[in-house]
Amino acid sequence: MAQIIRGKELAALCKQQVAERVKALEERGVKPCLAVVLVGENPASKVYVAGKEKDCAECGILSRVLRMPETTTQEELLDTVKALNEDESVHGILVQLPLPENLSAQSVIETIAPEKDVDGFTPINTGLVSLGDARAFYPCTPSGCMKMLYSVCPDLAGKRAVVLGRSNIVGKPMASLLLAADCTVTMCHSKTKDLAQICRNADILVAAIGKAKFVTKEFVGKDAIVIDVGMNRDENGKLCGDVDFDSVEPAVYAITPVPGGVGLMTRAVLMENTVKAAENACKTLA
Ligand code: GUN
Repeated sequence: MAQIIRGKELAALCKQQVAERVKALEERGVKPCLAVVLVGENPASKVYVAGKEKDCAECGILSRVLRMPETTTQEELLDTVKALNEDESVHGILVQLPLPENLSAQSVIETIAPEKDVDGFTPINTGLVSLGDARAFYPCTPSGCMKMLYSVCPDLAGKRAVVLGRSNIVGKPMASLLLAADCTVTMCHSKTKDLAQICRNADILVAAIGKAKFVTKEFVGKDAIVIDVGMNRDENGKLCGDVDFDSVEPAVYAITPVPGGVGLMTRAVLMENTVKAAENACKTLA
């Protein structure tokens, strides 16, 4: 039986620490504020944004949700982001993705001021993460995965880590954070040969490919720690990860569940990044 790395307890602890930092800022007259821009009517995005509002309320962070219609133009969206960049009462900016098809996410991301980029998606933050620079805002999902790993393995040095998936949002920054923790990192993707064999040798396996139950017990060794970033629907419409939990769980040392795993930590790290942005702004003023 594997150890189950639950997001609920770890996220609660993380948010409790954020709430203490928020209180300390309030004593200095600063109220941390996250602005979330939601364009259009994507039902999943609406659920995610509601979750962020709830997390903010729990941590004592102000949330300001700017809802824009599906018909919003690129210029209107960029102007909204620019106004938030200039607004000193806003410490973190998040533009919910995906955007409607006629809008370019990349140019929106590039417009967000790096010091308010609590998603960690801007080129400046991406560069700082790959440099291993602590001033970076670490993208929320990889940072949450690292906290989950540390909870079962405090010393990651020398561990063989395999990252499945090379997205800019998860796979690539995940590899940077594992490397900064002195892991030996292998990145795998859709063109990788002998995938199962490479994964079987991993001490740490991070699955972020967006394919329901892709990772089966043939992909894991018995001492592996498996982190499942996937958020998919199975053939019955039930939420599931990239890992076939039922077959993999008995075969490994530790594993994260879906739901109740990485997703909750992603949300908690967003709160952590927002309070960090507010603390940084406070330092700049001092
Ligand atoms: N859509 C789904 N997850 C995320 C996220 O972490 N950040 C943003 N901006 N959009 C998302």
